[in-house]
Amino acid sequence: MDANTSAPPLDAKRMGTFEFSRTIADLPAPKGLPLVGSLLKLSGRQFHLTLADWIREFGPVFRLDVMGHQLMVLSEPAAVEGLLRDRPDGFRRTSNLKTSMGELKIAGVITAEGDDWRKQRRLVMGGLNAEVVRNFFPTMVVITERVLLRWKTAVAEGRRIDLHRDLKAMALDVIVAIAMGQDIDAVNDDGNQVQRDIDNIFQRLGARNATLLPYWRHFKLPVDRAADKSADDIEQAVIGFVKDARERMAQQPQLRQKPGNMLEAMIAASENPESGFTDQELISNAIMSVIGGEDTTANSMAWMINLLAQNPEAAATLAAEVDAVLGDAPVAREWEWLKQLPYLEAAHSETQRLRAVAPFMGFASNADCVVADTFVPKDTVIFVANTGASQDEAHFPQHELFRPERWIFDGKPSREEDPSRKVFPFGAGPRLCPGRFLALTEIKMVLAMLVRNFELVPDLDAPPVEQLLNFFVGPSAVPVRLKLRAR
Ligand code: HEM
Repeated sequence: MDANTSAPPLDAKRMGTFEFSRTIADLPAPKGLPLVGSLLKLSGRQFHLTLADWIREFGPVFRLDVMGHQLMVLSEPAAVEGLLRDRPDGFRRTSNLKTSMGELKIAGVITAEGDDWRKQRRLVMGGLNAEVVRNFFPTMVVITERVLLRWKTAVAEGRRIDLHRDLKAMALDVIVAIAMGQDIDAVNDDGNQVQRDIDNIFQRLGARNATLLPYWRHFKLPVDRAADKSADDIEQAVIGFVKDARERMAQQPQLRQKPGNMLEAMIAASENPESGFTDQELISNAIMSVIGGEDTTANSMAWMINLLAQNPEAAATLAAEVDAVLGDAPVAREWEWLKQLPYLEAAHSETQRLRAVAPFMGFASNADCVVADTFVPKDTVIFVANTGASQDEAHFPQHELFRPERWIFDGKPSREEDPSRKVFPFGAGPRLCPGRFLALTEIKMVLAMLVRNFELVPDLDAPPVEQLLNFFVGPSAVPVRLKLRAR
């Protein structure tokens, strides 16, 4: 529940200026317990699955009763898109998110609102836009080749590969390189401290989100103290990166006009007294990028590998597409090649449909408004299931099947047909994920390298893969063995 929300009672005068056919009280709702309502169901590592069950049972717009408050849950695509577009003015992120992330030193654009958000968003976008990602491509090739070498060596030596661990390390190398201009080579450093710290922070965020009583605000267990230490360590590492970048920029003043990475761009902007950008905001956004760029992308790749291993036909179609574009090259060496992989893009979209890493978000309304024909009072909490339509047969027939083909059209699909108007794995509107272009580039590089060089062999003896909500949703394992492809 959002601590800032206490919607005042409705009255006819307040509602008179709006057109709507129902109020939140008219919506269907799961039956909760006396007094607490559905509170006990709102936490836990499987909350996203409970939400999906509710969507199946109660439809795309329903209500949750929690401790005497009425919350709304929305998965109807047009209403979801409309709400996401009406930010930051119409809706804000819940203050719970800001508090729980802030406690572990994650702040910056993701939890900023209003003009503060506008200012920070411009800066973060400047560091992650298409041109920056394109200029970064040569480094991306080097990092991908590093992963290939590691996997080939492991296969040759008959060693088991921990794919999920390696994908996280690779995503970390990419984000630290593009955001900070540093090569930490976490891929080849099995005990990398930054990676351990990020894992620690996500585990704590996930566990705290799954806990009803925020005990850690009153006393700390060893795990809480360890997470605090990880947050401090990451802050210190980032402060070090900022110091290095400032020294670099002092020696090469031209970097102020032509920054080489996101951090340099932010430093250059913050030095302008009119920017109003503080040192703390600079550090917060740098920390947020490192943390935000790792698990999202790594979990997406891990899900995609699991799904391809279970769908050998799709994997073979993908391998054929990649072979045709890469030729003899073991990794994509030209930026243009990445644009010639429509099946790979479709397989990624299908992965996000079935296994979104961020399948819901919490918002609060900034003013009385109407959402999905429902009157919504100011300060109402709304859970937006941004990929909630993914299991709706009307939108995605045989929805449980992994079928990248549903994302491929001869021409431009009509608005009604277009699947990208039905699920929003990267959000939508002004706060659309600024890292999506980087993430997509990285995912294409790794998956193309993977299917070009290896066959994916599912480990049939492994227990079923679970979907775990650890702040982001990720697979419990990637039980897939790599076998070198014959050339
Ligand atoms: C497959 C990978 C990723 C997925 C699925 C993903 C998903 C999302 C989603 C759903 C949002 C919320 C959007 C909204 O409110 O409409 C978001 C926001 C954000 N993401 Fe990503 N993300 C990914 C990768 C990245 C990467 C690599 C970065 C790099 C730093 C990043 C940085 C951010 C930031 C800064 C925001 C907050 C934007 C704002 O509030 O204005 N993400 N992401």
